[in-house]
Amino acid sequence: MTHPIGIFDSGIGGLTVFRSIAEQLPGYDYIYLGDNSRAPYGNRSFNTIHQYTWECVQWLFKQGCPLIILACNTASAKALRTIQQKDMQGLDPSKRVLGVIRPTAEVIGNYSTTKEIGILGTVGTVQSESYLIEISKFFPDLKVYQQACPLWVPLVESGEYEKPGSAYLVKEYLDELMAQSPNIDTLLLACTHYPLLMNKIKAQLPANVKVIAQGDIVAKSLVDYLHRHPELEQKLSKSGSMKFYTTDDTSEFDRHASRFFSEPVTSKYVSVTEFSCK
Ligand code: DGL
Repeated sequence: MTHPIGIFDSGIGGLTVFRSIAEQLPGYDYIYLGDNSRAPYGNRSFNTIHQYTWECVQWLFKQGCPLIILACNTASAKALRTIQQKDMQGLDPSKRVLGVIRPTAEVIGNYSTTKEIGILGTVGTVQSESYLIEISKFFPDLKVYQQACPLWVPLVESGEYEKPGSAYLVKEYLDELMAQSPNIDTLLLACTHYPLLMNKIKAQLPANVKVIAQGDIVAKSLVDYLHRHPELEQKLSKSGSMKFYTTDDTSEFDRHASRFFSEPVTSKYVSVTEFSCK
């Protein structure tokens, strides 16, 4: 049996993080799971996001993953702590589930000169205030403004983001965020779907505003984590395989996923009914 690194997202957005991880940590085995049939998670309740995420994490454990990355800000904000502190009690203590918020919070203040930044995320991520809480631990003087963008994930998942009309929806949320302070010089895309909108976002902003996607930040942090945890690193199998699973239609997944992953993707189907089978 292989012992792959599991990468989870509600849909295809996590592939932007997976791309960076696979580049910085080549040769490992990977399994990606996108819960497309139940995405988007962003507008759902705490309990629902936690239940869905925990089901997906358990399935990835069953596939032999000793380490799982929640490549989804919404799941990291709403489910990670309960999974780490409650659900995993009594399981093999060497298993690990990590999120994307903390590694991003650890460095995001370094990008800003004015020390005022904006966070763009789903309703769930913004309402959880997870970024405000985590960033204040590392950059207590940084001013952080948030904006929820509830229509951006559906825009990306549907493929409509490539059409010219999407510029209107992109501009609307950016205007609301930038109106909160004239000194914001850095915007964090705190949703793994948003890097697909990067060009459209940049087109609406003054040239001095940096737009940061978190894939490379998360990947760099994982490289460091594996250095600090050799016992876990040695458990991971390294035959260079990459498997993709979706809980929805595979051809749709493959068509969109190739753009997020920058290379052709062939996925397999897994039914969510399988998640409840012990
Ligand atoms: N890609 C996920 C994130 O980073 C969210 C998508 C969703 O709403 O399902 O937050």
